[in-house]
Amino acid sequence: MPSFQTSPGTRDILPPQAGRWRELNLLFADTVQSAGYECVIPPMFEDLGVFLRLGDATDVVTKEMYDFEDKGGRHIALRPEQTAGVCRAFAQHRPTTPWKVWYSGPNFRYEKPQAGRYRQFDQVGVEVLGSDDALLDAEVVALGWQFFARLGLRQVTLVINSLGDGDDRTRYIDALRDYLESRSTELSDEARATLARNPLRVLDSKRPQDAPVIEAAPLITQFLSDDARDHFAKVCGALDLLGIPWVLNERLVRGLDYYRRTTFEYVSTSLDGAQNAVGGGGRYDGLVEDLGGPATGGVGFAIGVDRTLLACDAEQVFDAGAIAMDAFVVDVVDGLAGLAVTDELRAAGYAADRAFDGRSMKSQMKAADRSGAVFAVIIGGDEAAAGTCTVRNLSTSEQSTIPRSGLVAHLASQLGPRTPRRSTP
Ligand code: HAM
Repeated sequence: MPSFQTSPGTRDILPPQAGRWRELNLLFADTVQSAGYECVIPPMFEDLGVFLRLGDATDVVTKEMYDFEDKGGRHIALRPEQTAGVCRAFAQHRPTTPWKVWYSGPNFRYEKPQAGRYRQFDQVGVEVLGSDDALLDAEVVALGWQFFARLGLRQVTLVINSLGDGDDRTRYIDALRDYLESRSTELSDEARATLARNPLRVLDSKRPQDAPVIEAAPLITQFLSDDARDHFAKVCGALDLLGIPWVLNERLVRGLDYYRRTTFEYVSTSLDGAQNAVGGGGRYDGLVEDLGGPATGGVGFAIGVDRTLLACDAEQVFDAGAIAMDAFVVDVVDGLAGLAVTDELRAAGYAADRAFDGRSMKSQMKAADRSGAVFAVIIGGDEAAAGTCTVRNLSTSEQSTIPRSGLVAHLASQLGPRTPRRSTP
């Protein structure tokens, strides 16, 4: 048993899984960059105050924050999500609007670890700052949806709701609190505790005991202003126009307090109920202002990478492919010719690997097979003396011995030409 293991709620993402992580990021970048979103990289820790804007009654702030005092006496927190950091960056740098950005990277929440819920987890996401346009909400929602489709996921449902503006929300929360208090004896102990902190979150309770009370609770839609109602109708109409199916859930409240108007979640029906949101987002007009910037509309989403890949496993899509090697160089002389040939192939644009430690021919050929390479390039005593190499097709076992100077041309004739990466000495 080694002395150290990963901390609870953290995981090593090993190959080939880690390659899948990278592929997912590339696909996400391609999806959103082709829609005009540029990459932004906010820091992984910030002043705690930045994240307090997520809501002083939310679990993320009250229970899950990784915060500490640094050596300079600052109260710092590891980011639990990236929206607040992006808004802080906007308030600090004031880029031209609309500011359309995307990000990826780890976030930290001290949660109870379980399948699909980790203390360090990855998100990819987008934020747009500086626009109130409902059609932008639709663009953002659509981008997330299209990304899941590109991964090959079919069992994803888009759930959408409007939380109205600040005033609508306040009036609704008051009415909801009154209602829930009037029936509090019927609620579970947990829901009663939640009610004292944050009535909205009671709507999230999955406990059967709370269901009848929640069922009859007032709905936010009854409290929307005309503006907020029009905005929501426009978002839904635009999604219809784009052919994106959505389901209205008037009890969708989400776990962060900054949401106004549109809120949504992408739910995977292939995942276990408790942890089945693979992404979520919404509008958060007012957050930039809260962070000391100008009044600015904002909308975005974040997708949980860990959970999305669990959904991919469940649906058997987006497999972890091993890196495809073109050639594996086997040198049983002194390794030097192998070193030069491998370097030449890589420079010419081919994926090439080799063995080290002066292994036997048998052991190097085994490594060549394991690498999945198309060809083994073999340099034995005869080849070394004659300045040749033997190129062996590892699936058909056909082989031919050619001058080493013709190796790149030979691979080009078999695998097609590649764009050179650099010139060799
Ligand atoms: P969120 O709903 O807290 O929203 O997180 C988004 C997604 O991150 C979730 O749907 C889930 O897939 C994943 N996630 C959250 N917590 C964990 C965890 N402990 N372990 C694994 N995955 C997790 C936000 O973070 C907002 N910033 C989204 C947003 C962007 N809203 C507007 N713009």
